[in-house]
Amino acid sequence: MSKIGFYIDRIKAGRLKSMRLQAKWIYGYAKHYFWHMLFYTVLGLSGIGVSLFLGLISRDLVDIITGHKTGEVVKYFVMMIVFNIVSMFFTQVTSYVSSWISMKVDAEIKSDIFSKILVTDWESLTSYHTGDLLTRWSSDASNISNGVLNFLPNIIIYVCRFVSAFAMIIYFDPSFAIFAFLGLPVSFILSRTLMRRMVKNNERSAAMSAKMTGFNQEAFSNIQTIKAFDLIKLYVQNLKNIQKEYISMRLEFQRMSIWTSILFTTVGMLVSYSSYGWGIYRVWSGAISYGTMTMFLGLSGSLTGALNNLTSVIPSIISLTTSAGRLMDIVEMPREDYSNDDAAKAFMEKYKDEGISLNISDITYKYKTGNENVFENASMCAHPHEIVALVGPSGEGKTTMLRIILSLIFTKEGKATLYNGEDESKAKEFLSLDPSARKIFSYVPQGNTLFSGTIAYNMRSVKPDATDEEIIDALKMACAWEFVEKLPDGINSEIKERGGGFSEGQAQRLSIARAIIRKSPILLLDEATSALDVKTERKLLKNIMKDEYPRTCIVTTHRPTVLTICNRVYEIKDKKLAVLDDIEIDKLIRDF
Ligand SMILES: Nc1ncnc2c1ncn2[C@@H]1O[C@H](COP(=O)(O)OP(=O)(O)OP(=O)(O)O)[C@@H](O)[C@H]1O
Ligand SMILES: [Mg+2]
Repeated sequence: MSKIGFYIDRIKAGRLKSMRLQAKWIYGYAKHYFWHMLFYTVLGLSGIGVSLFLGLISRDLVDIITGHKTGEVVKYFVMMIVFNIVSMFFTQVTSYVSSWISMKVDAEIKSDIFSKILVTDWESLTSYHTGDLLTRWSSDASNISNGVLNFLPNIIIYVCRFVSAFAMIIYFDPSFAIFAFLGLPVSFILSRTLMRRMVKNNERSAAMSAKMTGFNQEAFSNIQTIKAFDLIKLYVQNLKNIQKEYISMRLEFQRMSIWTSILFTTVGMLVSYSSYGWGIYRVWSGAISYGTMTMFLGLSGSLTGALNNLTSVIPSIISLTTSAGRLMDIVEMPREDYSNDDAAKAFMEKYKDEGISLNISDITYKYKTGNENVFENASMCAHPHEIVALVGPSGEGKTTMLRIILSLIFTKEGKATLYNGEDESKAKEFLSLDPSARKIFSYVPQGNTLFSGTIAYNMRSVKPDATDEEIIDALKMACAWEFVEKLPDGINSEIKERGGGFSEGQAQRLSIARAIIRKSPILLLDEATSALDVKTERKLLKNIMKDEYPRTCIVTTHRPTVLTICNRVYEIKDKKLAVLDDIEIDKLIRDF
C-alpha cells in the first residue's frame, strides 16, 4: 500500500502533476465538443467493426477459392466490395468530423486566449516579447487543436482496435496470440525514452519559433532603420544564423524520428514475418485453412498498427500538454478588474456635460522591473476646460504618470479619483481610477498609433456613428483639415501601416483628431504635438481650450513655448509634481 502511496505522491508532485493540470485545461475547451467527439469515437469504433467483418469475408472468400469451403464466390465478392465501400465511407466521414472538431477547438482557443490577453495586466504582459506571444497564441493553440482527439477518442479507438483484433485471434487460434505481444516490450521501452526526449524537443522547438517570429516581426517593421544604418548585411546574416540554428535543431529531431521509425518498422516486420511463418506452418500441418491464415495476417497488421498508433499518441499528448502549459503561462497572468464598468459608464453619462475633474494625491510608484521609485508622494489635479501640462526631462516619469491615470499600471500608495465639476468640495460623486474608468479618457500616446485604413475609418473606429461633418469638425480642431482638405479623396484617403503616407506631424494631428472625436471628458496627450511647429501646436491647443465641450486636458511636453497657454504646469522634480509659477515658467522659456 505504502508503495502505491509513494507513486501517487510522485505523480502528484512531478511533471505528471503539471501534465494533469494541462490536460484538465485542454479538457475545458474540448468538453464543449463532447457530442462531436462521441460521434467521432462511435464512427471510429464502427470502422473497426467493418474492418473485422471484412477480414471474415476475405477469409471465407479465400477458403471458397482454395476449395476448403463451398459457397457462392460472387456473393462473397460482392459483399467484400460493398464492405470496402462502407469502410471507405467511414474513413472519410471520420476524417471530416476530425477536421471539424480541430477547427472549432482551434477557433475557440484562439478567440478565448486573444480576449484574455487583451484583459491581462499590461505590465505583466510587457515582460513577453510580442513574437513570443504571437507564437504561443498561434502555433501552440493549433498544436492543441490538431491533437485534441488524441486525448480520449483516439485512445479508445486504438485500444478497441487492438483488443478486438486480439480477441478474434484468440477465438480462431490462440497460438497466434503470442505474436501480438512480440513487439510490446520494445514499444514500451522506446516510448519511455521517447517521452523524455519529446518534452525537451517541444520546449526547444517552441522557444525557437518564438525567436524566429520575434526576429521577423522586428525586422519587417524596421526596414527603414535597417537601411538607414546600413544594417542589411548584418540582418541577412542574423537571419541566416537563426535559420542555421533552426535547421540543425530540426535535423536533430528528424534523425531521432528516423531512428524510432526504423526501430518500429523492424519490430513490425519481425512480428509480421514470424506470424507469416507460423501461419504457413499451421496451414501445412492442417491446423488452419488458407482463409484463416489470410485473416490472421490482416489481423496481425491491425495489432501492430494499433500498437504503433498507441505509442504515437504519447508524444502527441506530450506536445499538446507542453503547448497548453505555454498558453497557461499567459492566461494565468494577473487580470485587469473590469467589475466597475457599469458604475464608470453611468458616471460618465451623468457628468459628461458638466465635465469631470481628476485628482491624484500622494501616489508612490515603482515599476516591477525598476530599481527605484518613479514617484514618491506625488499629487496633481486637472479640471474641465483646463489644459494642464506635465514637464520635466526625459525619463522623469511623464508617460508613467499618464499610465497611472489610465490604470495601465497600479500604485500601491496614494489615491487617484475622478469627480464631477470643477470644485471638489461641491462634488456630488467620486469614482476611483481603475481599468473600467478608461472609457472616460482619450489617450494619444507617444509614437504612431493610427490604424491602416482610411482617415474616416480611423475616426469611426472610436465613434462608429460619426457623420462626415463631425469628422471634419474634429480634423479642423486638430489643425488636420488644412491638409486633409487638399487630398483628392479627402477623409476617405488611405493611411498605410503605422501612419504611412503622412508626415509625422500630420499623423500626430490625425491621432489627436481621433481622440477629440471620441468626446471623452478627459484627454491625455503624451508628446502628441512634438512633431508640430510651435505655431500649429499653440493653435491646436487653443482650439481645444476654446471648444465648448467641457474637456479636461493633460499634456506632456518638452517644449516650454506652449506653457503660457496652459492653466497649470507641473514639473516632475525629486519624484514629485511641483506647480510652477509664472516666474519659473518664464525661466523655462528663456532657458529653452
Ligand atoms: N515598462 C517599464 N519598466 C520599467 N521601467 C520603466 C518602464 N517604462 C519606463 N520605465 C522607467 O521609468 C522612468 C520614467 O519613464 P517615463 O517613460 O515615464 O519617462 P518620460 O518622462 O515619459 O520620458 P520621455 O520624455 O523620454 O518620454 C524611466 O527611468 C524609465 O527607465
Ligand atoms: Mg514619455
